[in-house]
Amino acid sequence: MAQIHVSTHPLIQHKVTILRDKDTDSLQFRNLIREITILLAYEATMDLALKPVKVQTPLAEADGVELQERIGLVPILRAGLGMVNGIWELVPQAEVWHIGLYRDERTLKPVEYYNKLPVAPTVQVVLVLDPMLATGGSAVATVDILKRWGANRIKYMGIIGAPEGVDHLAKSHPDVDIYLAALDKHLTPEPEKSGDPPAGFIVPGLGDAGDRQFGTA
Ligand code: PRP
Repeated sequence: MAQIHVSTHPLIQHKVTILRDKDTDSLQFRNLIREITILLAYEATMDLALKPVKVQTPLAEADGVELQERIGLVPILRAGLGMVNGIWELVPQAEVWHIGLYRDERTLKPVEYYNKLPVAPTVQVVLVLDPMLATGGSAVATVDILKRWGANRIKYMGIIGAPEGVDHLAKSHPDVDIYLAALDKHLTPEPEKSGDPPAGFIVPGLGDAGDRQFGTA
């Protein structure tokens, strides 16, 4: 069964609170996404494999280690893009392969629009990046694509998840561990009257992570 890690790190909780604030502007929002991703990546990369290497210090040869596996980042367009720079600060050699999906507003089902993965996998570990795990449809579809591609070690990194999305991803892909900064209460239901929010948004959430990052709200 998938392991679900919801961070309890005080810095993450502090930054997520500012991220949620409707008055946080796009610049600060983007900075927070990057900072939270760095902190989450520390937790999500705890089990990366190492191989021994020798290093020459100014004084002597020392035993050291280096990462054994090639790491791929797969941001789900658009909102996942903002998480890439955070991980690149820790793992600058990580490859980035973009998957474009948008969620149909009516059906809430993911629609694929961009995929330029090479024929065969070039990395051993894949981190799927998307700040919002709502119904889980986008995450499940992305992992489906990556598995068909041949990736076999996949982790999901998000900022905020809804129980519905966590459940959908964990049941569909029990081998994919899930790392989140916060687990929220539920998704909005179908609107009953005008003025109600659209269905499928995380509550309390932070709104639309893509729009807030890119200033398109
Ligand atoms: C949002 C979000 C996820 C998806 C989550 O993207 O960034 O990709 O919805 O919903 P789900 O778990 O129900 O699939 P959106 O479709 O708004 O596209 P965008 O990133 O381009 O704004």
